[in-house]
Order: sequence, then C-alpha cells, then structure tokens
Amino acid sequence: MNASRAADRTAKRIALIPGDGIGMEVVPEAVRILRAAIAKSNRQAEFVEFDWGAERFLRDGTTLPAGAVEMFRRDFDAILFGAVGDPRVPSNRHAADILLGLRAKLDLYVNARPVELLDASLTPLRDRSENDIRFIIFRENTEGLYAGAGGQFRRGDPDEIAIQEDINTRRGVERIIRYAFEYARARKLGKVLMSDKSNALTFGHELWQRVFAEVRREYPEIEARHLYIDTLAAELVRDPSQFRVIVTCNLFGDIASDLAAQLAGGLGLAPSGNIHPGQVSLFEPVHGSAPNIAGKGIANPMGAVLASAMLCDHVGWSDLGDLLRAAVRAAVRERQTTRDLGGSRSTREVAAWLLEYVTKAKAALT
Ligand SMILES: NC(=O)c1ccc[n+]([C@@H]2O[C@H](COP(=O)([O-])OP(=O)(O)OC[C@H]3O[C@@H](n4cnc5c(N)ncnc54)[C@H](O)[C@@H]3O)[C@@H](O)[C@H]2O)c1
Repeated sequence: MNASRAADRTAKRIALIPGDGIGMEVVPEAVRILRAAIAKSNRQAEFVEFDWGAERFLRDGTTLPAGAVEMFRRDFDAILFGAVGDPRVPSNRHAADILLGLRAKLDLYVNARPVELLDASLTPLRDRSENDIRFIIFRENTEGLYAGAGGQFRRGDPDEIAIQEDINTRRGVERIIRYAFEYARARKLGKVLMSDKSNALTFGHELWQRVFAEVRREYPEIEARHLYIDTLAAELVRDPSQFRVIVTCNLFGDIASDLAAQLAGGLGLAPSGNIHPGQVSLFEPVHGSAPNIAGKGIANPMGAVLASAMLCDHVGWSDLGDLLRAAVRAAVRERQTTRDLGGSRSTREVAAWLLEYVTKAKAALT
C-alpha cells in the first residue's frame, strides 16, 4: 500500500474539503496560516481542494465520488476538513456519505480530541487555571452505536420497533485502548482512564472491561483507572485536573468531548483528528457548519487552525504544529478573538493576526 509511498514524499500532499457553511470560511483562513508556517521551514506541501458539500450535491448529486477513498490512500498524506451540514439538505445525506464515509472507509479508528485551557478567562468553571484543564479524549471512531446496524419494523405503526445495535469488536476495542496507552507512554503522561457503562451494558462493555484489564498489564508504569460514563461527566465538571488521557466508545466520546470542549472555551476553539496511525488521516474543527452565523464573517477560525496543527503533528511536522498552537494561545491572551470568545474581531481579522504571528515568529524551523 501507499503509507510508505506517502512517507517517502518530500512534499506532503494535503487534501482540502471545506464543506458547507462556516467550513468554507474557516478552512481557507487556516490554510493561509498553515502555508505561512510551512514557508518558514524547509518543507513543502501541495494542496488540492475538493468541492464536496451541499452545493455540489444539490447541483449534481455528488457526495463521496467513486474512487475517492482509494485516491486519498494512494496520493495524500492528510485531509483538512471544514464541516458538512446545510438546511437545504434536511436528510443530511451528503454529510453522512462524505464525513462518515471517509471515517469508516479510511478506517480512521482514533478520534482524538485534545482539550486545553489556553486562558483562565475562557472556562465557565470557577477558580481554574490553565494547568487544571489539559487532557485528551480518544473516542473509538468506527463502531459502537454509530456502526449503522439495526432496523425498524412496522414503521409508522403504533407497535413500531426501532433497534440500534451497539457493535464492539475485540479488535476495535483493543486498538483504541492500546492507542491511548501508547500515547500516554510516548508523552510520559502517567495515566489513562477508560470510561464505559459496563454495569448496565453487560455484554458490549464487559468486553471493554476485559480488554482494558489485559492491555493495562503491558504498561505497568501507567496508572490505569476506570469510571462509568455518568461519573466521568460529573467529574469532568467537578475536577478536570485529574485527567490526562481518556479513552471511551464512540457515543460516550462524542458527548464527553463536547462537554470537555466547553470547559476550555467552546466549540469555536476545539480541534479533532480522525486518525489511522501511519495512514492518510482527516483533521477538522469539532464544530459543525453553523448555519446561524454562516456568511456573516464572524466564525472563529481557531478550531480549524488547531486542527491544522494536529495535521502537522500527523505528517511529522510537530514543530509547525507547535508554532500554530503558540499563535492561537497568543491571540487568545491578547484578546484577538471572535465573539464566541468574548472578542469583537471578524474571522478575517483573527486569521490576519495569527498569520502575522506565524510570519514574524523568531523560532528557526528546520
Ligand atoms: N463534523 C461536522 O461536519 C459536523 C459536526 C457537528 C454538526 N454538523 C452539522 O452542522 C450543522 C449545524 O449543527 P449545530 O448547529 O448542531 O452545530 P454547530 O457546531 O454548527 O453550531 C453550534 C453553535 O455553535 C456556534 N459555533 C459553531 N462553530 C463556531 C465557530 N467556529 N465560531 C463561532 N461560533 C460557532 C454556532 O453558531 C451555533 O450557535 C448541522 O447540519 C449538523 O449536522 C457537522
């Protein structure tokens, strides 16, 4: 396959899928800043944009074209994604095909959602400082209740039955739990917390319990802890400083990471990675297409910029990732922010500030 071919390329190939709504506003800004960071180093990147989203779907029915997945595997190192979702497509059919299709077909089994409080003023919690909120959630991204297994019987009838099945494979559970331990080991983070609901979901989540007990034995230096998801939700609010690495299933990770994002300033700042280690992976802000503010020029571009920083880490350019993260941290501290973070700047103004920071940064990048 192509993972080695991609790794051998000197210039990285990055696909851009801005998508819908504010995705089309924040991705171009993030790319300008990313290009400036790349230009400071000896690296090279080639960007190829794809116009998949509601507009294209309404025009010619295209969602994820045939051959797209193979093309990404073969020819690209990473994908920067905006968001999909448009009120003109109430079924959200294009969004499901494009985003869920890429996550499943590229087997992007790790959904990584880092949570970092960049400035104490941004958390709704009382008396919390930057050091208190710094952790990462790894959400299983390919199975669980989102695997699409189930059915409806007697639809529309008073006796209607709807079944949504929770798929947990040993291979799927093991690889996400192992990824969390490897991440903690590589960064000397010292602890991993697994969250499930095995007291109620006694088949599927009992598997999570058994696999966690097995895998933790291979990482004796890491403190391995367990909390039921309801307790985790409460503890995230009561004392987020106790967490470094959290690993959980698809549904719980989806919910817990939105709660966690709010602890650190909200959706506008939250990035995520959909990762298959060593293969082409997709990076996106956590937020959606935000139709309520689309076209107004007020969307926060920082989530997309922080997603590009994760993309840089993935392609082996973590020094560029650090530069982008430093730029966002500086902008937040200097109050160069959009309305969602209490500022009054436009998308363009915030992006211009970040661009200037990156362009003027003294650090010599190699
Ligand atoms: N990954 C994705 O592509 C993704 C994720 C979530 C939702 N969606 C889709 O997006 C559409 C809207 O969904 P939603 O309203 O539930 O979620 P949303 O994230 O789009 O918006 C939620 C709220 O947060 C605000 N917000 C979001 N991002 C912001 C930003 N960068 N700057 C400032 N404010 C921001 C919005 O204005 C809105 O008030 C739906 O079609 C949904 O299906 C897509």
